Amino acid sequence: MMENTILVTGGAGFIGSHTCIALHEAGFRPVVLDNFSNASVRVLDQLERITGQRFPLVRGDIRDADLLRDTFQRYRIDAVFHFAALKAVGESVRQPLAYYENNVSGSLALLQVMQQCGVRRMVFSSSATVYGEPQYVPIDEAHPIGSTNPYGWSKVMVEQLLRDVASADSDFLALALRYFNPVGAHESGLLGEDPLGTPNNLVPFIAQTAIGRREHVQVFGSDYQTTDGTGVRDYIHVMDLAEGHVAAFRTHCGDFGFKPYNLGTGRGSSVLEVITAFEKSCGAHIPWEAAPRRPGDVAVNWADPALAVKRLNWRARRDLQTMTDDVWRWQSAYPNGLQEHTS
Ligand code: NAD
Ligand code: UD1
Repeated sequence: MMENTILVTGGAGFIGSHTCIALHEAGFRPVVLDNFSNASVRVLDQLERITGQRFPLVRGDIRDADLLRDTFQRYRIDAVFHFAALKAVGESVRQPLAYYENNVSGSLALLQVMQQCGVRRMVFSSSATVYGEPQYVPIDEAHPIGSTNPYGWSKVMVEQLLRDVASADSDFLALALRYFNPVGAHESGLLGEDPLGTPNNLVPFIAQTAIGRREHVQVFGSDYQTTDGTGVRDYIHVMDLAEGHVAAFRTHCGDFGFKPYNLGTGRGSSVLEVITAFEKSCGAHIPWEAAPRRPGDVAVNWADPALAVKRLNWRARRDLQTMTDDVWRWQSAYPNGLQEHTS
């Protein structure tokens, strides 16, 4: 099967860049397309240091149809791994049109050019957010679909686009990978999550507190019905997630249809468990204080990954301690991320 060259939209971002490493290790040739709205161009240097390969880079936007057509032809793209999106839930509530424009119109533009160029395989970055308020845990792929915010709806809408394209074109394959809580960094410490501004998510906030950029972590809610009262989530190492993409694509690249998969560990960890693991990684106390529940948060959310384990011959292998160890290696080597690091 000549499924060699993969266009990785958003390939300079957190999950896309780690997936480029997994693709390379599996013998594929990633071509990165990114508009750098939330990434540093130095990611390409780091990828080269890790893999020994300079991946081709297309600077530009998924909404630019001419650029996409040119890219498909120039690099003879066989399949698209589509990560490019805006992803901040709170911002999506304030700026819904920006989210629908970038995430939904962008995906539509990409699918149109794929159709024109005869490229019929897409692996899409979906999210557990498409399950809306969990009605039961662990969440399996049969859980009802819905959302509570425009970011989540943009993922639901793109999944629907993919379902419809796959039912209209019997040769089209769409893998919708529904991530739970991606964290971690490459084990080299050369690549990791590099959020602009104040992090919204727990692990980057802890990491920036550990390095001294934030005073303390606010623990949102300590009266949930959980073992220690704090929220429980299914944190998955970004390299396990990256390898999950390769496993899914390898399994299905000769198939067609719309296929959703949960990518999670099937294990939940509380906020305090994550803080404790991080303290072990960095060898220091992480200051934290109890704060009110964050609006929209649920007590517990974790995946039933059985379908992926059974069909993709994949499972998440790295535990919470490995996740926080790897984040600390990255954060301590690059305290300000890649944008301001000078060495
Ligand atoms: P990220 O912001 O680090 O990466 C996204 C990349 O896409 C960035 O490099 C950004 O510059 C680029 N981009 C955005 N819009 C673009 C456009 N119009 N054209 C070209 N490039 C564009 O985010 P991430 O955490 O790596 O997330 C990757 C994907 O996974 C997203 O689709 C996100 O919604 C999804 N996802 C992320 C999480 C998470 O917790 N990180 C969870 C579930 C799903
Ligand atoms: C969030 C997004 C979700 C997205 C996911 C990706 C919201 C409401 N949901 O999920 O759509 O798919 O990220 O990773 O934004 N917490 C603190 N203090 C903090 C930050 C978080 O206590 O400073 C707690 C939260 O209350 C939660 C847990 O840590 O219990 C994880 O939070 P976070 O990392 O933001 O992820 P989610 O809310 O699960």
